[in-house]
Amino acid sequence: MSDDPPLLAFEGLHHRWGDQVLYEGLDLELHRGETLALIGRSGTGKSVLLKMALRLLVPDQGSIVAFGQEVTERTERSMFDLRQRIGMMFQNYALLDSLTVFDNVAWPLRIAGWIDRERIRERVAETLGMVNLPGTEDKKPAELSGGMKKRVSLARAIVTRPEILLYDGPTTGLDPANAKRVDAIMVRLKEDGVTAMLVTHDLRSIELCADRVAMLHDRRICWAGPTESLASESPQVVRDFLTGNFKRYYDPDRVAAAAGRFTAEKG
Ligand SMILES: Nc1ncnc2c1ncn2[C@@H]1O[C@H](COP(=O)(O)OP(=O)(O)OP(=O)(O)O)[C@@H](O)[C@H]1O
Ligand SMILES: [Mg+2]
Repeated sequence: MSDDPPLLAFEGLHHRWGDQVLYEGLDLELHRGETLALIGRSGTGKSVLLKMALRLLVPDQGSIVAFGQEVTERTERSMFDLRQRIGMMFQNYALLDSLTVFDNVAWPLRIAGWIDRERIRERVAETLGMVNLPGTEDKKPAELSGGMKKRVSLARAIVTRPEILLYDGPTTGLDPANAKRVDAIMVRLKEDGVTAMLVTHDLRSIELCADRVAMLHDRRICWAGPTESLASESPQVVRDFLTGNFKRYYDPDRVAAAAGRFTAEKG
């Protein structure tokens, strides 16, 4: 890892929703050129963390620095330039159903102030080619399969050629062939020098794409280390996560309380 300052750094994050404490002193750094996989159980706040990097959500406390600039103190308007430099592939695609593929992918360019139609057309076509979806400009999201929607969402994330990419579950729900396609695109972008944070439960993607892995557990990053040491040198909690051994982490009181609520609602 380089000694350069990180491209993206979360420091001392605290956040809660009502009485749910999501982060309690979360620290994480992303360095130029690396791909960092972020793993953790469902509901631990992986997606929220990526959204905080784009200031779509703001933490209660703590600092988020992207390209040397504090994100949490910025106004919405002053995020425009930073959002050109950070692309995000959302977990649920976040495509606009009423727009064509072309208009969905062109959206970030228009926000960035591109007005030359021919230039926009060329960039969108080139980007759809990069995700193996050439010629789909006129389709609507409803006409696409899940795998195609993922790739349109990836095209929109990379259309401004951002320096940082945030992938939220890029292969989730895809069949093996489509998952391989997305992995191959991520590897290519990495070879092109893109720095990335990859939220995934997919070990194949981690092995292929990630240099480092960090695990979000118990409201903070409980472990981070090189991908090679993931299976051998990580703590028990990480290995239990990878093998699906969750039993010891269940809080019986919480499970009982949730079951009680469910019965009460039914009755
Ligand atoms: N805007 C919001 N308002 C209130 N609660 C929210 C909001 N966004 C997320 N949460 C809550 O924060 C917690 C973490 O959500 P998040 O989507 O980040 O989990 P995750 O780790 O990405 O899970 P998964 O692996 O299932 O995608 C959840 O309990 C969720 O309900
Ligand atoms: Mg999520």
